[in-house]
Order: sequence, then C-alpha cells, then structure tokens
Amino acid sequence: MSNSTQARIAQDAIAAADSISIEDLSHTYKGGQKALDGVNLRFGLGLYGLLGPNGAGKSTLMRIICTLLEPTAGRVRVCGHDVTKDRQAVRALLGYLPQDFGGWRLHRVEEVLDTLAQMSGMLDKKKRHARVSEVLEQMGLAEVADRKIKKLSGGMVRRLGVAQALVHEPRILVVDEPTVGLDPEERIRFRQLMTDLGRDRTIVLSTHIVADLGAGCQEIAILDDGQILFQGPPPQLVAQASGHVFEVAPSAEDAEAIEARYEIVSTNVSNGQIVLRGVAATDALPPQATLVAEPTLEESYLAFMEARGRTSAARDDTEGSKGTQS
Ligand SMILES: Nc1ncnc2c1ncn2[C@@H]1O[C@H](COP(=O)(O)OP(=O)(O)O)[C@@H](O)[C@H]1O
Ligand SMILES: [Mg+2]
Repeated sequence: MSNSTQARIAQDAIAAADSISIEDLSHTYKGGQKALDGVNLRFGLGLYGLLGPNGAGKSTLMRIICTLLEPTAGRVRVCGHDVTKDRQAVRALLGYLPQDFGGWRLHRVEEVLDTLAQMSGMLDKKKRHARVSEVLEQMGLAEVADRKIKKLSGGMVRRLGVAQALVHEPRILVVDEPTVGLDPEERIRFRQLMTDLGRDRTIVLSTHIVADLGAGCQEIAILDDGQILFQGPPPQLVAQASGHVFEVAPSAEDAEAIEARYEIVSTNVSNGQIVLRGVAATDALPPQATLVAEPTLEESYLAFMEARGRTSAARDDTEGSKGTQS
C-alpha cells in the first residue's frame, strides 16, 4: 500500500469516527442547580449547532468538553480520550472560545495571540511567529496586528477569539455564543467563517439565535433545561415543522385575534394588506390560513418549541437577533 493511500485511509477513519461522544452526561452545581440531565450526543466532522435558550446548559456542556469542569455523572470522549482522565490529550486536540472572551484590553492583537499560542504549548519561537502571522492573515486581522484590543470592533474581537482557539491547529473547535454583540454584517461574516472552518474539522457552536446556524450546519442539537430535545440535520427540523407554520392575510380585527392566539413570527404589509406568518402547536390553524410549504429554520425552531410549550423561552432569545438584547 502506498503512503498516500495509507494517509487517505487514516483520514477517512478520522472523518468516520466521532470526534466527540457524550454519554448519559449530567451535571449538578454545588448549590444543587441541575444544569445537564442525561445528555447523549455525538459530533463528527463539520459544523454542529448547539441551540437552546439562556440557562439551557450550553456553557456547562462546553466547559465539560473542554476539561474545565468535571461532570457529576456520565462520560465524554474527545477523539477517544476521556475528558476527566486524559485532560492533556484532550486539550491538545481542541481550541476553545469562551462566552466571555475579551479582556487583555490594553494589549496589542499580535502580542495577545503570541502569548496565548505560547500558553497552548507552542514553544518554538520561530515556528510560533510564523503560525501567528498565518492565523492573523486567515482571520482578516493582519492589518490590525498592532492595534490595542480595546480599539477593535466586536467582530474583530470574536475573530481574535477564533484565532487564539485555532493557533495550535486543533482538530476540534468549541465556540460558545460567538455572535453575541455582533452587528448583522459581522454576524453573516462570522457564519461564513464557521462554515469554511467546518470543512476540515469539528466545530461545536452554541447559540440562542437560530439565524446563526445557516445551511452550512451539519446538525443541530436543541438543548433545553439540561436535556437534548432534538439532534439532526437542519432539514429534519424543518420537516418536523411542516403542517405547523402558516401564512394568513386577515382583516385588521381578525389580525388582533390571531396575534393573541398564535405565535407570530413575522408581520408584513403588502399593498395595504397585512400578511402574518406564524406557528401553531396543533393542526388547528387560523381561518383562511394556508400552510407554508418551506418554513425557515427559525420558524421550524419556534414550531418545535411551541409544540412543547417552550416558545416564550425560545422567543425572548430570538428577539435578541434583532438587536434588542440587553
Ligand atoms: N457556576 C455555577 N453555579 C451554579 N449554577 C450555575 C453555574 N453556572 C451555571 N449555572 C446554572 O446552570 C444552568 C445552565 O447554565 P449555563 O450552562 O450557563 O446555560 P447556557 O449557557 O445555556 O445559558 C443555569 O440554570 C445556570 O443558572
Ligand atoms: Mg452560556
């Protein structure tokens, strides 16, 4: 067998195997707060979205995967390594962008990245500098390498966060709510970056904003109150919503009644006529409503949560995507 064939087989084996496997994972904080409750998940190659309202347990799960928090029950393996028994091996394999990445405000971009690269074990100065330049280039930060962190835009800070997580070329990237505080343009750019990076590694990205998970997303897992409610490709979530997303063009009086009774996703006015799109928990649609043949991912998520009486939790968060988040 040639070397290249061998290499290809090895690569296929990596692609086929689970990068992260999570079995019966539970976590209860010291005060008694149960943050995770019997979670089972598998992540392979590609971009995986961890979707759930605030308080669902997303950050807890990510901190456990990254060996920063020891779970009270269950098992997590990263490329076969147990996160509690084999910390060093796990840390070498993954890069982590925490939810509250920031800090270092008075330091310069290149300096921060170089220091963090050193901390992740890149001790050879020449190699490290070359790699730091490469990552700055890749993340579109080369021009601001000498700028202080406090002078960066929100989008640049996030990209620096990704740069530090990627600097030691990990196979797995864990990013916790990376789009909070970004403007719509930065958000789209970030989504594209994640899609690109997901082509040859595993990315687990948590968010409470559905729009962050585009078509480039391999699978979505919905976490709510410590439990996984769904894991599958986006079209599967959309398929589940079929029959529950409607469109209706009511009179002004009827519109009010419909808005009171149903979860409305969008309101548009065309030629003076109001058009509402909404989700229904059951088959009972408003009078004269027609079913939407292809619901969006956001509508599908809302329909999913509505069927479980959890729309208000999901909804508050969805509003965040429109820039009203506190
Ligand atoms: N250090 C902690 N001590 C006690 N409870 C915590 C701690 N961190 C998080 N929690 C609680 O655990 C639950 C899950 O929190 P978290 O994992 O931060 O959710 P998410 O990231 O989805 O918003 C919440 O009820 C939260 O209040
Ligand atoms: Mg969180």
